[in-house]
Amino acid sequence: MLQSMRIRGGQPLNGEVAISGAKNLALPALAASLLTESKVILKNVPKLVDIRSMLELLDHLGCNIDCFEPNSISISTNNLKSTDAPYDFVRKMRASILVLGPLLSRFKQATVSLPGGCAIGTRGVDLHIKALQLMGAQISIENGYIKAQANHGLCGCDIAFPIVTVTGTENVLMAAVLAKGMTRLINAAVEPEVVALCRLLNNMGANIKGHGTSIIEIEGAQSLHGTEFEIIPDRIEVGTYAIAAALTSGKLLLKNCIYDDLTTVFETLQNCGIVFEKQDKNILVYRKEDIKPIDIQTMPHPGFPTDLQAQYTVLMSVSCGTAAITENIFENRFMHIPELNRMGANISVHGKTAIVTGVKKLFGAQVMATDLRASASLVLAGLIANGKTVVNRLYHLDRGYAEIDKKLTECGAVVERFSV
Ligand code: EPZ
Repeated sequence: MLQSMRIRGGQPLNGEVAISGAKNLALPALAASLLTESKVILKNVPKLVDIRSMLELLDHLGCNIDCFEPNSISISTNNLKSTDAPYDFVRKMRASILVLGPLLSRFKQATVSLPGGCAIGTRGVDLHIKALQLMGAQISIENGYIKAQANHGLCGCDIAFPIVTVTGTENVLMAAVLAKGMTRLINAAVEPEVVALCRLLNNMGANIKGHGTSIIEIEGAQSLHGTEFEIIPDRIEVGTYAIAAALTSGKLLLKNCIYDDLTTVFETLQNCGIVFEKQDKNILVYRKEDIKPIDIQTMPHPGFPTDLQAQYTVLMSVSCGTAAITENIFENRFMHIPELNRMGANISVHGKTAIVTGVKKLFGAQVMATDLRASASLVLAGLIANGKTVVNRLYHLDRGYAEIDKKLTECGAVVERFSV
């Protein structure tokens, strides 16, 4: 059954939000469990549809999976029965491509469905494939599948990414940890989730240096062992709720955040007139003045993250001026804009740039979610719109925001989920 969310706008959000574990670390961390036959225990794993999809894939491969309340998962792969990731799993969740590197690295073979494109762009994996081929994998594309073989194992080498790719860096990292010799990744992603994945892999016995910089060195190990590891907080969830507090003229205490994971975002939002008070691992967020228009360009970390672009667009749609928002990462990540304009926003798109002129009010409407972060932006717009908003195709939202109804309701929002 499809689900929708009805939102009555106009309620300021006040209270506390417990930030969940980061989806974009939990997914590669689950894939990393394939690199050892010993048990890997992950704590603070968010309850999300995407996590469930990855667990279904690991189960299909033959992993033993135990879930412990509140948010721990243990995975053992000592009796794996397959190295194939079929289309039905990968089409549901593109990040399934992250099993390619670990399977190839540990089992010397893997057959993984090509993820195909998604709403926000073509989302190629050519850079993943080229890097693995440089490491000695024989890879062919047959009937929509990546068929990879490395009978003599993978060999370390220098790999320079022409553009920064987060899962590309992660996939090759997980291939390199068991390869022969040294692998150097040049122009590697430096996202906090990539750094945390390297910490996890080193906890498992890998030998990775330079993570957090654009040159990462991995000395291949004979084997890896199990470990226990805590998933870092989700910085995109932090940014989303910070914007929600500002939009609704409320005051939210965001609990369990890492301030340094969002410095560019916080600097930008402070320039917009939003106040952040760090309180150890918590951040108090509120606004004392009108929202000022500040231009942004989405960039790889530490730049402004593309995953907060749609949410920031809502903030600018009710600013006291005009701002330019340029999306440099994905070619089709403005699909929330026609829906926001139907709610009374004044946004025009010119290639990669959206020009947003603030309006006094948005108006409730029936809107359609198209992708994960677009759906979050429509919820944010509904929270401040005059009257009622209904966000349809809520499955997009549930892929990346754990318990969002509960978290919003506890802070005073009037939201109601219903099946259609
Ligand atoms: C990761 O996607 C995140 N997903 C995305 O979050 C995030 O938006 C993105 O990084 C950018 O930060 C996960 O970590 C699971 P990329 P990823 O490879 O790795 C092109 C969310 O909302 N490219 O860094 O797929 C690509 O098309 C999701 O949580 C190639 O052309 O992104 C894009 O234009 C959405 N060929 C650019 O590079 C390749 O082989 C950056 O993509 C790889 C990438």
